Amino acid sequence: MQENREQWATKIGFILAAIGSAVGLGNIWRFPYVVYSNGGGAFLIPYLCAIFTAGIPLLILEYGMGHKFKGSTPLSLARANKKFEWIGWWPIISSSVILCYYSMILSWTIKYMTMSFTKAWGQDSNSFFYNDFLKLSDSPLNFGSIVWPILIGIAIIWIINWFICYKGIKSGIEKTSKILLPSLLVIMIIIVLRGITLEGASVGLNILFTPDWDKVKNPQVWIAAYGQVFFSLSIGTGIMMTYSSYLPKKTDINNSAFMTAFANCGFEFLSAIGVFAILGVMATSQGVPMEEVVTGGIGLAFIAFPKVFTIMGVWGNILGVLFFSSLVFAGITSSVSLVEAISSAIIDKFGGERKKVVTYMCLIGFTTSIVFASNAGLYLLDIMDNFINNYGIVVVGLLEAFVMGWIIKPKVIREHTNKISYFKIGKWWDVIIKYVTPTLLTIILVQSLINEFK
Ligand code: PHE
Repeated sequence: MQENREQWATKIGFILAAIGSAVGLGNIWRFPYVVYSNGGGAFLIPYLCAIFTAGIPLLILEYGMGHKFKGSTPLSLARANKKFEWIGWWPIISSSVILCYYSMILSWTIKYMTMSFTKAWGQDSNSFFYNDFLKLSDSPLNFGSIVWPILIGIAIIWIINWFICYKGIKSGIEKTSKILLPSLLVIMIIIVLRGITLEGASVGLNILFTPDWDKVKNPQVWIAAYGQVFFSLSIGTGIMMTYSSYLPKKTDINNSAFMTAFANCGFEFLSAIGVFAILGVMATSQGVPMEEVVTGGIGLAFIAFPKVFTIMGVWGNILGVLFFSSLVFAGITSSVSLVEAISSAIIDKFGGERKKVVTYMCLIGFTTSIVFASNAGLYLLDIMDNFINNYGIVVVGLLEAFVMGWIIKPKVIREHTNKISYFKIGKWWDVIIKYVTPTLLTIILVQSLINEFK
């Protein structure tokens, strides 16, 4: 096996890079809303089940495979069994799609970060976002023209992606993660501390955590929990396998998987508290019920939050800059991980020097992202996000669990990771990979298909 593969300089560097990939836009703007709309406090039950029955076991599987077979997804699967290399290309396709729309959202985020200094969105953040900023067309087929500020933002993101991956594992990804992640944590803590001390914060937190136990019986809520855990842990995109292929021979793989999952969880709760505290402030100050101000995703970051920042006076400027910087920091470490997973697969398959491959890849990536800078960018985002979340990622998880559980046998990976890990996993893990994960993922997939055609 290839001995000259690059390596992380330190184990903490690897963990930070993996957490950096996991902690992304999904933690800050997706998770809070998912919790709120799926039973609040009661969502913890499906969420924790998803973490323990699919999140952590698959993370151990991906780490273990990358480490044992020393390759990106296609190479690792090919080394496990030549017939299954094609499965390894699937996550690379998902990653490429995610990367294009991720770079578009990051471009918006950078722009909003700079606008926070003056609150340039004015009094009507809703109309500003759709009409003045996105210049959204009236149909997904109407591409119209390029929106230049968005294209410039996308170019900036691709230059950052290129620069970090060009520098390589140690001096690029590891160094960046060591700076961005701690900074992100500090920013989040400031947002939370400021958020919870504002008037009305408790209204938001109450509504976030009040459990609606009936929801636990709803299969839709379980699908949401698995979808969130998958997306948030960057599972099924080839990243975790690729990252662990750069680990030295002796590393505690099992422990790393638990650490990544728990740190990601911690970030999710921290941001949920920050986000809902601030939404509570908005509801209180406008004298409207919480239900009217709660949104997730794009509506949260680019419409609701700018509105709150406008109401808040100077703290609005500060929180605005902090909030959008947190999205930028979290997003960059995730988008870099996607670039790395794709480049690494190409290098493993076709050879070539990292610097060259990364450069070409980023040029192609940027060119493809140009359609997202058109007036129809937002429509494309919706279509792709739906496709990736419901099918792309889950299918890969299912195929991985199936191949490893039934053909190559989980024992191969368990014995490998247990040999080098201080923290040992038992036979329960084999059972999960063989039966529990594939069954649950099949149910979710079928449910998603049924919903699609309903
Ligand atoms: N985990 C990232 C998030 O929570 C998203 C992501 C998914 C990044 C897949 C890379 C790969 O936002």
